[in-house]
Amino acid sequence: MTAGTVLTDDKIPNNVNLSGDKRLQRALEAWQPAFIDWWKTMGPVGWQQKDIFLRTAVSVETDGWAHFDYVKMPDYRWGIFLEPKVEGRLHHFGDNLGTPVWDEVPGEFRNLLRRLIVTQGDTEPASVEQQRDLGATAPSLYDLRNLFQVNVEEGRHLWAMVYLLHTYFGRDGREEADELLQRRSGDVDKPRILGAFNEPTSHWLSFFMFTMFTDRDGKYQLAALAESGFDPLARTCRFMLTEEAHHMFVGESGIQRVCKRACELMKADANGEVRAQGGIDLPTIQKYLNLWYTLSLDLFGGEVSSNAADAYAAGLKGRYKEERYDEHKLIGSTFAMDVLREGKIVHEDVPMRTALNEVLRTEYIKDCQRGVDRWNKTIHDAGVAFELKLPSNKFNRQIGMWSTLNKQITPDGQIVDASAWAAAAPSWLPTAEDETYIKSLMKPVFEPGKMASWIAPPLKGINNLPGDFEYVR
Ligand SMILES: [Fe+2]
Ligand SMILES: [Fe+2]
Repeated sequence: MTAGTVLTDDKIPNNVNLSGDKRLQRALEAWQPAFIDWWKTMGPVGWQQKDIFLRTAVSVETDGWAHFDYVKMPDYRWGIFLEPKVEGRLHHFGDNLGTPVWDEVPGEFRNLLRRLIVTQGDTEPASVEQQRDLGATAPSLYDLRNLFQVNVEEGRHLWAMVYLLHTYFGRDGREEADELLQRRSGDVDKPRILGAFNEPTSHWLSFFMFTMFTDRDGKYQLAALAESGFDPLARTCRFMLTEEAHHMFVGESGIQRVCKRACELMKADANGEVRAQGGIDLPTIQKYLNLWYTLSLDLFGGEVSSNAADAYAAGLKGRYKEERYDEHKLIGSTFAMDVLREGKIVHEDVPMRTALNEVLRTEYIKDCQRGVDRWNKTIHDAGVAFELKLPSNKFNRQIGMWSTLNKQITPDGQIVDASAWAAAAPSWLPTAEDETYIKSLMKPVFEPGKMASWIAPPLKGINNLPGDFEYVR
């Protein structure tokens, strides 16, 4: 059987010949009801019995991997899909450069590898939990459907990581898989592992910022793991990236539509006041950008990190598109970056392997900037003089070396005293009033083709469907 062959009549659709390994199949079929239980209690509130027009992954072929149809979410066919194995694949970075990649977990790196997989896996159900109430306030059926598409695919990403834990990590893998269903986003006693995944995503502006910035962190983490010398992980992550692209599209195009609408309302109002017209003004958009972008920067971890060095040395986690680089051992090379020395920001050369979190973050920042440029083009094309900006990578950080100056670094990256920072903070980050105002706008619009006051319609429908298509019924 080739990797493209999918047995969709199995309980768990897969292209990994699950029925050829009865023990594994039984273990995953035992985990499945716990997952469905979790989905029904912690997944989208109130829409489980509706027909949603969703895409389902049915293979890994580039054309035709997805099937679109109406489905009730609990009946979604969450499957296990790995990209086909490339025979003769070699480690292409780290200490094992040039030797065959691993099909089994190398004993000496077992804990490190399990940690990487569990940390990635934990983000997937966390985001579903964060977004579970948003259906009640969707600005259109199109957006409602996109929310659920993202949710079911995060569920599938959880399956992808659970498959690895069950297949390669024996009993502790099964225990980790159970715990992935037990932690809860924002819970005091059993929180999700990473900070941004415990933040409330209580309205659609935050949802769009989350899918723009936090899902994009996911893209970079998955891309770095797609380089892995642990071959099953690399193959799993490569396919996850295919789905991830849509999540970032939802975020980027969502904010673009909010910006477009802000510009329209600004012109419609005699005083240029967007809020007076029931829209979200550009300075408020900037504040939510500042918040979600900086929360997402934290997800890359410390600027100087021995864990990052270890994962690279072991060949478990590479750089973004490792093949673009000339040198793949990184012994003796350095990365020039800002660091904090005795309370001052200095530019310094850091040994490359320990700087790899920052290297990945730097690629991520460039990608975010491209998205912000497109938003600014929308604003510019509307004839409005306003520019959205990514704040400094040192602003509002809660992880890493800049976190010690958490409430002293401005969005321009200047160190100021705490009182000056506190005085200006309400113009940089969302206030309680902003939250109240945004929430006051969140009135659902469920009539096909109609949009809430604060957002412009999308340029085209999903799968080129007409604007008034009934995505949810
Ligand atoms: Fe995901
Ligand atoms: Fe995602």
